[in-house]
Amino acid sequence: MKTTLITGASSGIGEAFARKLASQGENVLLVARSEDKLIALCSELGRTYNIKAQHVALDLTEDDAPTKLFEEAKERGLEVELLINNAGFGSMGDFTTLELERELEMIDLNIKSLVALTHLFLKPMRERERGAIINVASTAGFQPVPYMTTYAATKAFVLSFSDALWEENRAHGITVMALCPGVTDTNFFAASEMERPPMRISQTPEQVVATALSGLKRGRGHIISGWTNYLMTEAERLVPRSVVTRIAGKALRPKKQ
Ligand SMILES: NC(=O)c1ccc[n+]([C@@H]2O[C@H](COP(=O)([O-])OP(=O)(O)OC[C@H]3O[C@@H](n4cnc5c(N)ncnc54)[C@H](OP(=O)(O)O)[C@@H]3O)[C@@H](O)[C@H]2O)c1
Repeated sequence: MKTTLITGASSGIGEAFARKLASQGENVLLVARSEDKLIALCSELGRTYNIKAQHVALDLTEDDAPTKLFEEAKERGLEVELLINNAGFGSMGDFTTLELERELEMIDLNIKSLVALTHLFLKPMRERERGAIINVASTAGFQPVPYMTTYAATKAFVLSFSDALWEENRAHGITVMALCPGVTDTNFFAASEMERPPMRISQTPEQVVATALSGLKRGRGHIISGWTNYLMTEAERLVPRSVVTRIAGKALRPKKQ
C-alpha cells in the first residue's frame, strides 16, 4: 500500500503535512513520541478522509529507531512513496551554558536519524525509480547563528545533504528537497525552551506545507517558505558572512551578558 511517512507528526508542521496529505487522499504513517496524540490524529484523519492513517510511537534519538521504523513499515506492507523527515528541535543560549547531552540529542534527531531514514527509504525508491523525500531544514541553515549555534549547524547539514542528494537522484525519478521555513507558529519554541527570535514575521504551518508541496511538484532541491524569509536569505548572500554572523549574534545575545 502506497503511503507517506511523516516524522514529528504529533504537532506543528508535521501535523499540518498529515492533515493536508490526508485531505488529498494519501495514506499516512505518522511517527512521534506522543502516542496519544498520534492515535487521536490517525482516527480523525481516517474517519474524515477515508484513508488509512497509521502510527508508530518512537523516540527517533534512539540508535535503532530508524531501522525499527523501516522494518515496521515493511512488515505492514507499506510502500513509502514520500518520506517527510520533519521531527526536530532546537536550543538557544551561550553554547558553553547549554547542556551537552541535549545538544548531542539534537544532533541525533536533526541529523543522525534523518540520514538513517533517508538511506533506508531511498534505496527502495531507487529500485522503483519513483519517490520523494522532504527534509525539513530551516532558514537558519543558510548562515551561522550565534546562540542557536548547534541548531543552525544541524540545519546547514540538512540543507547541504538534501541539495546534494537532489542532484544524485533526479536522474532516477526521485526528488530530494530541503524545506526551509522561517519562524512558524508551532510548539517548536516551547519544546526547544527557546525565546522566539525578535523582529520576525511568522507563518502558519499550513502556509509552510503549501510552499513545500508546490516546491516538490516543481522538483526543487530546496525551497524557502515565505517571501520575507526568501528576501532575507538572498540579502544575506550579498553581505560578507562575518557581518551576517555578527548581526545575528547581536540580535540573539542573551540579555544578561
Ligand atoms: N517552528 C519554527 O519556527 C521552525 C522554523 C524552521 C524550521 N523548523 C523545523 O520544523 C520541524 C518541525 O518543527 P515544528 O515547528 O513543527 O515544532 P513542533 O510543533 O515542536 O514539532 C516537533 C515534532 O517533532 C517530534 N519530536 C520531537 N522529538 C522527537 C523525538 N525524539 N523522536 C520523535 N519525534 C520527535 C514532536 O513530537 P513528540 O514530542 O510527540 O515526539 C513533534 O511532533 C523541525 O525540524 C524544526 O527544526 C521549525
